[in-house]
Amino acid sequence: MDCELSQKISCNACYGSSVVFEAEGEPESPLIRKGRAVCLDCSQTMSIVESILEGLPKSDPQLDFWETHYSNEDQSVIIAALEKGFQNRRLLYAHYPIIRMIRKLTVPLESSIELGCGSGAFSLVLKKTGTVDKVTLLDYSRASLEAARSLFSHFGESCNLVHADIESAPFRRKTFDLSLSGGVIEHFRTEEERLDCLNAHLDIANRAFLQAPVSSPCYWLSRSLFSAYNRGWPFGFEKPVTFRELCKLAKRAGAEILDHDHQYFLSFPLFTRLHKLPKPGWYTWPFLNEIAIIASK
Ligand SMILES: C[S@@+](CC[C@H](N)C(=O)[O-])C[C@H]1O[C@@H](n2cnc3c(N)ncnc32)[C@H](O)[C@@H]1O
Ligand SMILES: [Zn+2]
Repeated sequence: MDCELSQKISCNACYGSSVVFEAEGEPESPLIRKGRAVCLDCSQTMSIVESILEGLPKSDPQLDFWETHYSNEDQSVIIAALEKGFQNRRLLYAHYPIIRMIRKLTVPLESSIELGCGSGAFSLVLKKTGTVDKVTLLDYSRASLEAARSLFSHFGESCNLVHADIESAPFRRKTFDLSLSGGVIEHFRTEEERLDCLNAHLDIANRAFLQAPVSSPCYWLSRSLFSAYNRGWPFGFEKPVTFRELCKLAKRAGAEILDHDHQYFLSFPLFTRLHKLPKPGWYTWPFLNEIAIIASK
């Protein structure tokens, strides 16, 4: 984790921002491998171990699914797809709505935080294409952080890693230019939990990007084929969103949806050029697989 990030830390217990930061090791190094952050208000301590900021996440039954998934993940497919994408940017644009949408934003983005990063492919794409300079990845699954570390290291890139809950991320308000997540909000069960998830994105950064599977024939067909192939659905609770639902959540959060985009067919991790169907309408809706929004408050 880099020293710059230590300026953004807040206490994840009392949300106080009077945090003293102590790094152990080489004093001049811009990278901190070991150290701790202590809250002056409530004495809560967060340690940095093997460069990961330890934000003491809670345990939750869904966590087991992610630990198993990322402990066993074979990264060769995603690595091959990303290598192709970095050689041919058109494939990246076709596959990642985040790149298409951020290209349209005219503001420079220096820092981002991915909430529920998984193996961190979205942030890697932002970093590798020079779209964002400093990327931070947060997840409550250690296995996912290790997967992200290994993916970044394969592509010779660096990132900050944080082991924490999305709902109590240990950072000050609006300290990042962009917060993002892909495939996260649909794992929260109730409307209130989904609202908390959206609010966490909106609080921590000036702009929030969220991508999630959308309830459509294509989604349910690909989910049933995937379940048949794997003899069960391996991702625990997952309820796809609808655009109407995201609009309602944004309204409740007092946020504005600045832009939205779609992904057709089950394209992950196969890069497809088929995202450019005609303008979304009732006739393209059955093929929708994912929806993406950028919002701010
Ligand atoms: C579908 S995966 C994300 C996939 C990711 N976009 C990728 O490219 O690998 C969802 C991730 O969100 C994380 N997650 C879910 N709920 C969380 C929470 N409350 N706090 C932190 N992380 C959470 C899970 O551990 C998992 O890694
Ligand atoms: Zn505190």
